[in-house]
Amino acid sequence: MADARPFHWEFRPEPVTRELFRVKGGTVLSGTVAISGAKNAALKLLAASTLTGERCRLTNVPEIEDVRVMAETLRDLGVVVDHPAPNVYEIASGDVEWLFVPLEAAAKMRASFILLGPLLARFGRVIISNPGGDRIGRRPVDLHVDAMRALGASIEYRNGYYFATAPGRLRGGEVTFPFVSVMGTENAMLAATLAEGKTVIRPAAQEPEVDDLIDFLQQMGAAVLRTAPDVIEVEGRKRLRGAQHAVVPDRIEAGTFIVAAAVTGGRITLQGAPCDHLGTYLETLGRIGVGISCGTDTIEVDGTALHAGGYRACDVATAPYPGLATDLQPPTAVLLTQATGVSRVNETIYEDRLEWLAEVRRMGARVDLPDPRNAVITGPSALHGMEVEIGDLRAGASLILAALAAEGTTVIHGAHHVRRGYENIEGKFRDLGASIARIAEGETDTSS
Ligand code: EPU
Repeated sequence: MADARPFHWEFRPEPVTRELFRVKGGTVLSGTVAISGAKNAALKLLAASTLTGERCRLTNVPEIEDVRVMAETLRDLGVVVDHPAPNVYEIASGDVEWLFVPLEAAAKMRASFILLGPLLARFGRVIISNPGGDRIGRRPVDLHVDAMRALGASIEYRNGYYFATAPGRLRGGEVTFPFVSVMGTENAMLAATLAEGKTVIRPAAQEPEVDDLIDFLQQMGAAVLRTAPDVIEVEGRKRLRGAQHAVVPDRIEAGTFIVAAAVTGGRITLQGAPCDHLGTYLETLGRIGVGISCGTDTIEVDGTALHAGGYRACDVATAPYPGLATDLQPPTAVLLTQATGVSRVNETIYEDRLEWLAEVRRMGARVDLPDPRNAVITGPSALHGMEVEIGDLRAGASLILAALAAEGTTVIHGAHHVRRGYENIEGKFRDLGASIARIAEGETDTSS
């Protein structure tokens, strides 16, 4: 582990077409929005499909940039990835000989590292680049590497790449993490499905996307079971088979649209929304004063309290599931700018995930950042349009929320980051009555 540099120093990332959102705020949103499949499930399901040579079919896959990057990465390995219809992917990983996940893929998306476990387990070797990801903290991968070693792999790190081998087969074993890691759990679980013997993973992440992956693996014939809330046990199989699966709905996208109703004082119905997966979040929003009612697969949001006396301040802290998701911290913080009183936000998962609030402060919010893990928000504040810059996709979606709540027009640079994780976000907001356009930087906006 000598080389602390994440990437080759000569690496030049591919230029991206920079985009901006132009949002005219102040409209009360109303109507119905369909929630897409979860990014953080879909990416792992695509990777899991390489555990078998048989064809797998995934439906309800979100049409987002990260899925496109994962599909491209798999194709570069020689995996057949078909996209026969919108939101449907079919994967066939017959002979994969090019067991190399390059820096080009890893720099675009941290989740490329989820290929370590399945490729190593099925083919006995892989060379995989140290991953990149969002600007939300250091985000190392030591837990993934230690988990593979616990399953008998040899892994060396040289010049930005992990060289992993498992001659013969991986061996089941005890994988014990020092703290909960979502992808660490998933990588260990994926590797263990084809290992010889039994693996016990603890503490195992409890996020719904992990359970979605367990469902799919079971369909593939894997013997994977959550035997306690934070324990997953896997009995390795010699081979797995092809399977079909519909991706679980995206609780983070759902949480974003809930706040869109709340901060514009509107009423929105979310369709295909995972109420069961949003327990702590919905409970928090209820305390703040947002009206929420859950149906079988719908969530009705009533944000009219915004105008009738307002929302109440609330202290929140992020935590692994079933706690308040770090990915829902940004929308929660935007909502708290509209609540009366002093709210404290404690970010416990990532060290740099509150920095984006400086942009909301420029829009008129009263936000103190006493240290990188804590924010103090005093509300309510009248937000106003501004030129702001997106740093990561969750913060980006939440800057749209702030812009919808603001008076005047907000120009949000770096809109392409949001494309990584939200399907047609501007179209969905427009259908609810918002005035939002996505424009290539430098192009003239001709929309009204
Ligand atoms: N960590 C380590 N070493 C590791 C792995 C993680 O120190 O080897 C640290 C991380 O730096 C972080 C903490 O452990 O401080 C927890 O990270 P975790 O491993 O749980 O995160 P992840 O699996 O890399 C997934 C999601 C993130 C989400 C987190 C937490 C995917 C592709 N990503 O990341 O989603 O924030 O879990 O819930 O599943 C996003 O979608 O925008 C996003 C960042």
